[in-house]
Amino acid sequence: MQELSVRHLLGIKDITSQDIQLIFETADNFKDVLNRPIKKVPSLRDITIANVFFENSTRTRLSFELAEKRLSADVINFSSSGSSVKKGETLLDTVNNILAMKVDMIVMRHSSPGAPHFLSRHIQANIVNAGDGTHEHPTQALLDSFSIREKFGDVAGKKVVIIGDILHSRVALSNIFALQKLGAEVMVCGPITLLPKYIKELGVKVELDIRRALAWCDVANVLRIQLERQQMKYFPSLREYTLYYGINKKMLDSLDKEIVLMHPGPINRGVELSSDAADSHHSIILNQVENGVAIRMAILYLLASKQ
Ligand code: CP
Repeated sequence: MQELSVRHLLGIKDITSQDIQLIFETADNFKDVLNRPIKKVPSLRDITIANVFFENSTRTRLSFELAEKRLSADVINFSSSGSSVKKGETLLDTVNNILAMKVDMIVMRHSSPGAPHFLSRHIQANIVNAGDGTHEHPTQALLDSFSIREKFGDVAGKKVVIIGDILHSRVALSNIFALQKLGAEVMVCGPITLLPKYIKELGVKVELDIRRALAWCDVANVLRIQLERQQMKYFPSLREYTLYYGINKKMLDSLDKEIVLMHPGPINRGVELSSDAADSHHSIILNQVENGVAIRMAILYLLASKQ
C-alpha cells in the first residue's frame, strides 16, 4: 500500500506532489462511497478523533466531523469558547488532557500561526491542521485543487488567479503551494496593500487589475476580506473595495472564454462577489464543499495508517 511521507498534515509546504496525488486517488474512492445509498465504511472503527477548534468554523468543522463519521471513527468536539481555556489552561495541557481520554488523532484550528507545528513536537497523536492563523489551511487547498482536477481533468497547466486579501489568508498560501506542486500557473490579484511584500519570492504572477486577471485565468479563486485579522485600514471602505475588486456575473459573462469561479467560504455577498456571480453557472463553490468531505476522509484514512 502507498503511504504519505508525513505523520501529520501541518501544511502543503511539507508534503510532496506524490502525497497530493495519493490523497486525490484515495478521495476519488471515498467520493464513490459518498454517492452510494449507504455512505459509511468501517475503515476507522476503533479510532477516536478530537476536533479541537480555538477559532470559529462552519464548513471545516462540519466537514471533518462528517468525514470521521463516514469512516466509522468515534468523534469528540472541543470548542475553546465555554472551555477551561478561559480559566488559563495552556494549549498543551488542554490537548494532553484530551489525549489522556485515549484519543488517537487531533484535528485543530487555532488563531496562532504554527500552533499545530508546536503541538506536533510535543505529542504522539497524528495532527491535522484545520487552519492556523494567517499561515496554512492545507485541507482547503487540497479540496480546491481536487475540485479544479474534477472540473478540468488535471490541474497541471491551468491558470489560477487568487483574488483579494492575500496578506491575511491561510487559504492563499496553501493554495499557492498546492497549485505549484501540481504544475498550475498561479497569479494573485488584489489591492497592493493586501499583497504580502514577499509575494514575488513565491514564484507567482502579480496583477493589480481585476479585469486583466479575469481575462488571463481559467479559474478565479476569490477570497473574503478578513476584517477579523486586520489591525489597521488597508483600503478606504468596503464599498470602494467592491468597486475595484468585486466580481459580478456581467464581468464573467463578458469574458471571451468560460472561467470557473471558486470561493473557500464564508462569502460576503455584495463585497467580493455579487449574488448573481456566486450563484451563476460559473461557480463550483458548493462542489468545493461537497469534495471537502471526501478529501478529509482520504487524509484521515491515510494518516491513521501511519500510526
Ligand atoms: N473555508 C473555511 O475554512 O470555512 P470555515 O471557516 O467555515 O471552516
